[in-house]
Amino acid sequence: MTETKVKKTTAISALLEEGRRFDPPIHFTQNANIQDHSLYEEAAKDRERFWAKMAGELDWFEKWQTVLDWNPPHATWFAGGKLNASYNCLDRHIKNGLRNKAAIIWEGEPGDQRTLTYWDLYREVNQFANCLKKLGVKKGDRVAFYMPMIPELAIGLLACARIGAVHTVVFGGFSPDALRDRIQDAKAKVLVTADGGYRRGNLMPLKHDADLALRETPTIEHVIIVKRGDFPLHVKEGRDHWLHRLMQEAESYCEPEPMDAEDMLFILYTSGTTGKPKGIVHTTGGYLTGTYATSKYVFDLKQEDVFWCTADIGWITGHSYFLYGPMLNGATQIMYEGAPDWPDRDRFWELIEKYGVSIFYTAPTAIRAFMKWGAEWPERHDLRSLRLLGSVGEPINPEAWMWYHQHIGREACPIVDTWWQTETGSIMITSLPGVTSLKPGSATVPFPGIEAEILSEEGERIEEGGGYLVVKSPWPSMARGIYGDPERFQQQYWSKYKGVYFTGDGAKRDQDGYFWILGRVDDVINVSGHRISTMEVESALVDHHTVAEAAVIGIHHDLKGQAIAAFVTIKEGSDGNGKLEAVLRDHVAQKIGSIAKPEKIIFSADLPKTRSGKIMRRLLRDIAEGKALGDTTTLADPTVLEKLKRTYEE
Ligand code: PRX
Repeated sequence: MTETKVKKTTAISALLEEGRRFDPPIHFTQNANIQDHSLYEEAAKDRERFWAKMAGELDWFEKWQTVLDWNPPHATWFAGGKLNASYNCLDRHIKNGLRNKAAIIWEGEPGDQRTLTYWDLYREVNQFANCLKKLGVKKGDRVAFYMPMIPELAIGLLACARIGAVHTVVFGGFSPDALRDRIQDAKAKVLVTADGGYRRGNLMPLKHDADLALRETPTIEHVIIVKRGDFPLHVKEGRDHWLHRLMQEAESYCEPEPMDAEDMLFILYTSGTTGKPKGIVHTTGGYLTGTYATSKYVFDLKQEDVFWCTADIGWITGHSYFLYGPMLNGATQIMYEGAPDWPDRDRFWELIEKYGVSIFYTAPTAIRAFMKWGAEWPERHDLRSLRLLGSVGEPINPEAWMWYHQHIGREACPIVDTWWQTETGSIMITSLPGVTSLKPGSATVPFPGIEAEILSEEGERIEEGGGYLVVKSPWPSMARGIYGDPERFQQQYWSKYKGVYFTGDGAKRDQDGYFWILGRVDDVINVSGHRISTMEVESALVDHHTVAEAAVIGIHHDLKGQAIAAFVTIKEGSDGNGKLEAVLRDHVAQKIGSIAKPEKIIFSADLPKTRSGKIMRRLLRDIAEGKALGDTTTLADPTVLEKLKRTYEE
């Protein structure tokens, strides 16, 4: 099916042409970890050997016997090898002269600050690990986290890794219902949360929200509460424990558990095309190898760098490029709790100046917000410490790229546009900053050792043009499954093309072999770099007593990239008055989280359906984009569309 026939066709139309090019500055290349194409050549010669070499830079308690065992879709990397993630992030740096180096420089939104050296972090992780043990957490048990961006989140996660417990982080902005669903799916034994956190000057009452979820999570035996401020809360005797009290009694050393390379490290939930979130499973040896190598080469990490990845740890970016990749490299990192516009729109630039950040990694949605706020905000600060910029989460439009390059990078910093996914674990398509000539809007080329391809519907290779983005051979940090649902894993990623990983994204390749990501081809909407499934929003809407049916689509949004538009049919007898729109938006926020709030709700008596009753979202998209309607021949009732068009345009 996937033989490499060369094809010059277009399975997905690609309209954007971009001719600008930016070579790496000479002084950057001269000091870069990688200065030429040798890494690509080395990996192309023998992919497995290349990855084994990367893995060999980590500390293993026992070396592996086989590099790769591939039985699609099941990959076993480094079989027989034993290691521990927290040992690699902490102990080996303590032993190798980095014990007094700053690991985390943290700033809270109200301006409070903490710096933890590798030694500090090591000590706290050991103690936290002993607290978990004391509460009965054992290797393989799942521990859920619902936390603000404070050091205890990182400490708790590394503590899980130390004892071989599996962490599953639920983004603090998610609703109690979303937390409940994820705890139930993971069958977590312990929940770690905080009394609260700060966001745009408001208090996020995390423990209060967690209590709502905890009403329906029978597997949770204990709750650990981190004290962030003076938030009012209810403590349930016997179940709830203050972390600082547990820590007072905890021993200072905890032996790291020797983990099999394929033992589970964490589960992270992400949206798919059906309502139920998918618990993506990552294991230890391969995941650490992928995040370690990409951090080192894509971000060109040096001992003197100050690295700032702005992503919350609730997303994969925070797992791979805050918690693991940079820590494995012994980096100094910034962790910031709050919003970029609090108390003012220069908070990020102020932090960069204050801490001398040298590498800054953020998302296009943030860059578009900065653009909108204007260049005067970064201009108030000295950003000359920056030497490298990164982008992740969605396609960066060339105008945003240019603005980032000019106003943040002073035209002196390469930009690494990094394409990857929760499922891929680490960066897959990207430039190497000292080597690759950049084109604004293109993620450029696959990382060494990654065999990304573009295929037609029939599985033929597309040399130039648009098609489906796939990965043809296994890589160490690939997802090992969907927790508890092997069939869905097979079906979602491995059934479109045999033995080939299907990403769900469209992409085109240009005449120079550069990849341009075209976005999702499935029913997943990318809002501000976060995947939201149309199904989940639809279920949340239908959950409201006035709603009979709902169809959700992604529409263009200047800042968020995509926003959610919902077409809603209300039940007979319900009142579709002006207030209902606000009520439904709040209902979705309550069910899923405010990130999933529809931007626009269109009430309609009917929705366009096929004769078999399937809602044709494609036609709804045409209406929302004001396009000529595509093929309508399979519609059960074509008059529905005209009515809908009129309502939409009103
Ligand atoms: O559509 C792609 C988009 O984000 C999706 C992955 O989302 P998630 O698993 O939440 O992980 C986000 C952070 C890695 C992809 O399928 N995406 C991610 N990075 C890029 C991107 N689209 C274009 N360019 C990128 N650099």
